[in-house]
Amino acid sequence: METAERKKIIFSAIQPSGTITLGNYLGAWKNCAALQDEYNCIYALADLHAITVRQEPAKFRHNTLEAYALLMACGIDVEKSIFFIQSQVHTHAELAWILNCYTQFGELSRMTQFKDKSAKHPENINAGLFTYPSLMAADILLYQAELVPVGADQKQHLELARNIAERFNGVYSPTFTVPDGYIPKTNARIMSLQDPTRKMSKSDENANAYIAMLDKPDDIMRKFKRAVTDSEACVRYAEGKDGVNNLMGIYSGVTGKSFDEIEKEFEGKGYGDFKTAVGEAVVEHLRPIQERYEQLSKDKAYLERCYRENAEKALAISQRTLRKVMKKIGFVQ
Ligand code: TRP
Repeated sequence: METAERKKIIFSAIQPSGTITLGNYLGAWKNCAALQDEYNCIYALADLHAITVRQEPAKFRHNTLEAYALLMACGIDVEKSIFFIQSQVHTHAELAWILNCYTQFGELSRMTQFKDKSAKHPENINAGLFTYPSLMAADILLYQAELVPVGADQKQHLELARNIAERFNGVYSPTFTVPDGYIPKTNARIMSLQDPTRKMSKSDENANAYIAMLDKPDDIMRKFKRAVTDSEACVRYAEGKDGVNNLMGIYSGVTGKSFDEIEKEFEGKGYGDFKTAVGEAVVEHLRPIQERYEQLSKDKAYLERCYRENAEKALAISQRTLRKVMKKIGFVQ
């Protein structure tokens, strides 16, 4: 008789380099919470990645702890998943160095994110920015992850992680699981409220362009009222109606309603009513998350216990992979 199938391993991470937005949540982390029963989920705050851009120390520490509590409030359950802070698990930096030696300069030079980021920060094109993808490969490969939920902007990095894994396996013997991308069924790509052709981003200079998960209800309502739409004054999903499409995506994401249902609901109504409804639905959806965040962030001792214990669990798993790798390369045991 077949034994019960082993749960697949999912790995994902987010940089704690600013406030987490509604886009991060609807596009990825809402779904990550839902995956916890079906998969073995391992999640990390990629703070080592975050220092490829200069961080102000006090703010960086604050953002990391805020992101930890906030993602727990969004549904990451440390009883079911492992959720840790990358810099607290030293195997990541160690394997990243090793993988750097199995990654070609040419490969890293082709990464579009590196090209974009170095164009944006010409004053600080550091080596970490360049080798960022080998650290990301280390994150994934240390846990023998089979599935990695990534947005479009990280696909190229995941592809490189696969190539590095295959190369290493080929030079030695099968060592790393070659990870696949995981495309969520409800793949919401949330755009800027001010320029709906661009992704909603926490690093946008204009705070009206994004909803932060901890924004106050008044701010949320105001930002939706100012959201860019079009001049047709008809709530329908169609090409060229990026602003309305985006608001429909958000409304659908927080209410579970289909686009057909949304079009019917707002038949004959203007954008004013629609924006108010979207704002209110977002406020209501975020309310319990914000309440849970408030509770969690008061309990510093509990949070600390969570991230410490989870770092230990992550270390135990990742060390098994790192030891194998080092042995195969020929480091003295
Ligand atoms: N680079 C990812 C981002 O900026 C974050 C990240 C780091 C990640 N390590 C990862 C994502 C491993 C998936 C798997 O969004």
